[in-house]
Amino acid sequence: MKTNRIIHGDALAELKKIPAACAQSIIADPPYFNVLENEAWDTQWKTSADYLAWSEAWLRESMRVLRDDGLCFIFGQLGKREHTFLHLMSRLSLQHPFHDLIIWDRAVGYDERRDSFTPQYEMILVLRKGEKAKFIKDAIRIPYNEATITRYLKDPRYKDMEARKAHLKKGKYATNILRVPSLKGTSSEKCGHPSQKPIQLIEKLILCCTETGDMVIDPFLGSGTTALAAQQNGRQWLGIEKDSKYLQIARARLKALVSKSKN
Ligand SMILES: C[S@@+](CC[C@H](N)C(=O)[O-])C[C@H]1O[C@@H](n2cnc3c(N)ncnc32)[C@H](O)[C@@H]1O
Repeated sequence: MKTNRIIHGDALAELKKIPAACAQSIIADPPYFNVLENEAWDTQWKTSADYLAWSEAWLRESMRVLRDDGLCFIFGQLGKREHTFLHLMSRLSLQHPFHDLIIWDRAVGYDERRDSFTPQYEMILVLRKGEKAKFIKDAIRIPYNEATITRYLKDPRYKDMEARKAHLKKGKYATNILRVPSLKGTSSEKCGHPSQKPIQLIEKLILCCTETGDMVIDPFLGSGTTALAAQQNGRQWLGIEKDSKYLQIARARLKALVSKSKN
């Protein structure tokens, strides 16, 4: 199968053409269902029941193409009072082994609500296929700040200072609250997709569960963020996107990345 390419088409139909057990990771950022109310792709289902049935169908195909030790990440958001993602998480976790629930802390709040706190996070449901998943905990570490390093180095309980220094230099393990600022309108990364994710966020998902040469599939590629993150890190990838407008954006971003890496 030819990899590192974008397929223009419907996620469910195209996933069916992909051989079984070829992907180490699926990164799915699907339509949320009536959260982005001005986007036709987010409001294409009459009822939440229709959306849930569709979600189950594409996830079934995603799980088929996933390797036994692979991980599937599914982004989801709640709307002002729209909460279908809660039901989706429950339904999907009953059908496939639950692995984790990651909170993407966007660092800044969005949307103004007068009657509740300002929302600042999105959720990423993590499902696995088999009993055990490949997870490279060492791949994502968060640097300690200078004050913490200084304090730890003065702590008399640590006898082996060289080992302590080496540990502090590596940073601490990431928690399942991933704080990555969402893209501002002025960000150079921003490219015109209303739900574009930061490359840095997708990179963390890729690096924690794949190694060089492993395959990552994104059935809802949008502006191509997963493709860029995978390409930059030497992973094979496949992306599916239905809307030709976003397909063009993704292709342009990839072209820019490839020509930058040649210079
Ligand atoms: C939440 S966005 C993904 C954004 C992406 N992660 C990024 O960083 O740009 C969901 C995308 O799914 C696409 N989409 C909607 N229905 C689809 C379908 N049935 N098959 C493939 N793509 C679809 C939409 O056009 C939209 O670009």
